[in-house]
Amino acid sequence: MKQVVATVISNEKLWEEFLSQGRQKYAGTWLMRLNCPEMTSEAKPGQFVMVRCGEDDELPLRRPLSVHQTDGDKLALLFNVVGNGTYWLSKRQKGNTIDLLGPLGNGFSINPDSNNLLLVAGGNGIAPLYFLAQEALKKRCSVTLLYGTADRNRCSIPPQIKLVSATEDGTVGYRGKVTDLLPQYTGRADQVFVCGPLGMYKEMYSKREELLKDKPTQVSLEVRMGCGLGVCYGCTVKTKSGLKQVCKDGPVFNLDDIIWDELDY
Ligand SMILES: Cc1cc2nc3c(=O)[nH]c(=O)nc-3n(C[C@H](O)[C@H](O)[C@H](O)COP(=O)(O)OP(=O)(O)OC[C@H]3O[C@@H](n4cnc5c(N)ncnc54)[C@H](O)[C@@H]3O)c2cc1C
Ligand code: FES
Repeated sequence: MKQVVATVISNEKLWEEFLSQGRQKYAGTWLMRLNCPEMTSEAKPGQFVMVRCGEDDELPLRRPLSVHQTDGDKLALLFNVVGNGTYWLSKRQKGNTIDLLGPLGNGFSINPDSNNLLLVAGGNGIAPLYFLAQEALKKRCSVTLLYGTADRNRCSIPPQIKLVSATEDGTVGYRGKVTDLLPQYTGRADQVFVCGPLGMYKEMYSKREELLKDKPTQVSLEVRMGCGLGVCYGCTVKTKSGLKQVCKDGPVFNLDDIIWDELDY
């Protein structure tokens, strides 16, 4: 883990977005590219960085964001603007610097004998799964991505990945929840990797046999974090093998290890 001051290469708004059911409007989804050679050689898919969002002490807490892509010396973050920290980040421009700690956490792990990977992204859960897909393709795995969003707004996906879309409003692909598609695709998968909202994980766990059969399934938890370093215990979750810290022991866990009934964030 390193502390790095990285320079912004570009910071681009990909799309505007509205929270559903008439709640507060937020400013959309942004793709930030940083020059960060210190981290790109080390970072593994599923790991994250703690980003200092603010100058001086105005916003002292760092925010966790997944590594979305790496390309040579460049590292990309994909983030939704949901509050002060991500709003501040969305205002950074080319040439500004960003203070990062990372890479942190355990990351996803692809079994050496897995050939067919099924990735399931709910909304901005695409952020770490894009990087996983990049790495899986390098290992010559076949990758199928089930990508569920509220509407047509979505990242562009490399053509080598078999993309199956679901939208809540039916504007792209299947109309409905991305989890509805699972029974069609799990049969062929050696492993399943998921990043999405808590409700999606709970549904997968409660209907495990129907949706995932016996396929090994890893999920990335996006709980609120204080330090990101295993110090504050703010990210503790209950698992079948005791209390775990998401920032240090995760954020990736086996679906079957978490005590889902007791998790609410
Ligand atoms: C390991 C990890 C990886 C993450 N990767 C990404 C990513 O790649 N892209 C991305 O857009 N977001 C990601 N998140 C979520 C991101 O950290 C939060 O959206 C961010 O911290 C919000 O900061 P803020 O100051 O803008 O909002 P705040 O003012 O802190 O909060 C605004 C709203 O967002 C909610 N919120 C805050 N933090 C989280 C959180 N950790 N999870 C869920 N809801 C939260 C709050 O409950 C509140 O409703 C990740 C979280 C974790 C733990
Ligand atoms: S966020 Fe502080 S221990 Fe995990």
